[in-house]
Amino acid sequence: MNLTGGIAWHWLAWRSEARWAPTSLALEKWLMSHAQVFKPGHVQGQPSLLLIGASAGWMMSSQWLQQFARVDTYDIDPIAATLFKWRHGKALQATHTELQCHTRDALQDLPGLLSAHPKACVFFDNVLGQLRFQNQATDWQQVERRIKQFKVQLQGREWGSVHDRMSGRTTLALQHNSDVPVRHVDWHDQHWLTQLNAQSPWLDHLTQDVFPAGTSVQDLAWNFSSHYRHWLQAGWVRP
Ligand SMILES: C[S@@+](CC[C@H](N)C(=O)[O-])C[C@H]1O[C@@H](n2cnc3c(N)ncnc32)[C@H](O)[C@@H]1O
Repeated sequence: MNLTGGIAWHWLAWRSEARWAPTSLALEKWLMSHAQVFKPGHVQGQPSLLLIGASAGWMMSSQWLQQFARVDTYDIDPIAATLFKWRHGKALQATHTELQCHTRDALQDLPGLLSAHPKACVFFDNVLGQLRFQNQATDWQQVERRIKQFKVQLQGREWGSVHDRMSGRTTLALQHNSDVPVRHVDWHDQHWLTQLNAQSPWLDHLTQDVFPAGTSVQDLAWNFSSHYRHWLQAGWVRP
């Protein structure tokens, strides 16, 4: 059973599009300014992208995807491919970006996938924070070790991720379409959690070591429902 995707995810994402729009927009802004691959000195030529945990790309920016010559999406959910094409296909056609959607576990054999696409950038699209809920993952230390391993496998690549850092109930009701807090660099965790109106305890998604030390990250809120918020963390790593 897919606890983090599938029909339940599509239904929720479709119904929550307006509520989640401020976060999707903030992510688009961040991707466009921090994860552009055509800047001088970065990957040369026309790079391609492996988008892992793509689902239908409910919160993904077509505009950011349009910079790539080719996008390969991966999701274990069998209906994700059709829905992704429906949501992003037209925009990608407009920029002649080739789109290939795969129904496949992209994390099981990440090294194999990377060697099949030696020059591609990689983006984990809100998937790494869900690993603790998969495959009856009861041993959280094992999940942490698995998550730490990805950055080792990705050495020498241009890659990024957005994932849940923590999530939980809020002390206040979150208004529909309300602004989402974005963390200032000098805020310590406790102050940030206060800005998020976090009502203790919050769930740790075990993603504190996704990125190599020193990677600059953006923390932002995702108003998941009227009383439940996620702390998302986004980062982009250049080799
Ligand atoms: C929270 S959803 C993310 C949705 C997506 N990024 C979006 O904007 O709609 C997590 C997705 O990751 C997928 N997923 C989970 N494990 C995966 C794996 N090992 N390989 C590929 N996809 C996976 C799930 O099926 C689910 O669609």
